[in-house]
Amino acid sequence: MIPENLNELVTFKGNIGLAVYDWFYFKEGFSRDLIFWLINEFNLKEKIFDPFCGSGTTLLAAKELNMNSIGIDVSPLAVFASKVKTRNYDLKLIEKEFNELKNARFENSRTDFIDKRIRELFYNKNLEQLVFYWNKIKEIKDEKTRNFFLLALIDVTGQISNTIKVGGSLRKKKKGFINVKRIFLGKANKMIKDLQEFKARKIEPEVMQADARIFRLPKESINNIITSPPYLNKIEYTSVYKLELGLYFQQQETRLRAFISDNISLINEKFSGMPLIAQAYFSDMEKVLANLYDCLKSNGMLCIVVAGGCFPDKVIESDEIIISLAEELNFKLIEKITARKIDCMAFRTKLIGKTRESIIILEK
Ligand SMILES: C[S@@+](CC[C@H](N)C(=O)[O-])C[C@H]1O[C@@H](n2cnc3c(N)ncnc32)[C@H](O)[C@@H]1O
Repeated sequence: MIPENLNELVTFKGNIGLAVYDWFYFKEGFSRDLIFWLINEFNLKEKIFDPFCGSGTTLLAAKELNMNSIGIDVSPLAVFASKVKTRNYDLKLIEKEFNELKNARFENSRTDFIDKRIRELFYNKNLEQLVFYWNKIKEIKDEKTRNFFLLALIDVTGQISNTIKVGGSLRKKKKGFINVKRIFLGKANKMIKDLQEFKARKIEPEVMQADARIFRLPKESINNIITSPPYLNKIEYTSVYKLELGLYFQQQETRLRAFISDNISLINEKFSGMPLIAQAYFSDMEKVLANLYDCLKSNGMLCIVVAGGCFPDKVIESDEIIISLAEELNFKLIEKITARKIDCMAFRTKLIGKTRESIIILEK
């Protein structure tokens, strides 16, 4: 039976307030209960693969159900968040380090090692406090414990900076002095409470930084795939997470060409007639689908959550195109479910129509 709140399950909303799922706010994520529903409804078995794992919702839900899974993402930030959310921890050690951080006496910290463009996004007094805790975290010897606290700091970094995330962009917003100790330790304390509450499962999924257009798992090694690729012409991941990526990962990410047309020579001519961005996007999706077909066992299911792309003069529905690409590869369409309709705005102001956000169920 299709859940009544499917329109919410395809968004991150259902993860807010859920122990561990909300350790890192990932606007583009879907909700745990969507994964629980898909696994139950289509009788999906381990091993589950998510080639666009984002903040790790699929992997964490599989872990909760005691199922093995594997996830990749091109973004180092997404991979880091997914890993930290799906590890098993030594709670005693975490509590000990938490007390050390709580009792640490603040000292002024140098911030000049940070790129000027990032520094400019902070009030310097706030950045000094942030760097103080960052340095303290770096001193933690146990890697898992260190990464646990680093994710807490990464998650509150946006709040500490003079920026806000609006839609697909990062905007400047002055905020004045912020008590970083209170915000950071508050987040870490909540994460510790979550660990006490979260049903510990031994399984730790494999998480890797990789590009789904190129990455290939061994042939017929996966039972089922649940995933959501970037949406055509939608969120500028690099720009939304510019702050976190620049500060902690000193790295830009490469993306599925929802927006990039960096190598138009790799565009498949069967998409000509579409805007260039769409041609690049579907050429990439075709490669990804071929890789997914290859690694799936026969009768394995591929569940894709995807919405269409909005352009100034038209809407391109991605679900139909992805289905036809999948069918060309010999996938069989089992079901296409419309989860919700999204307004398509041209230049953020003019409504030009609506696009579907769909769940596509395919079988090999
Ligand atoms: C819609 S989000 C997935 C969100 C995820 N379902 C969750 O709940 O957090 C799409 C993800 O695809 C990643 N991505 C974009 N291009 C990619 C590529 N070529 N290979 C692998 N991952 C990519 C982005 O970094 C982003 O995390």
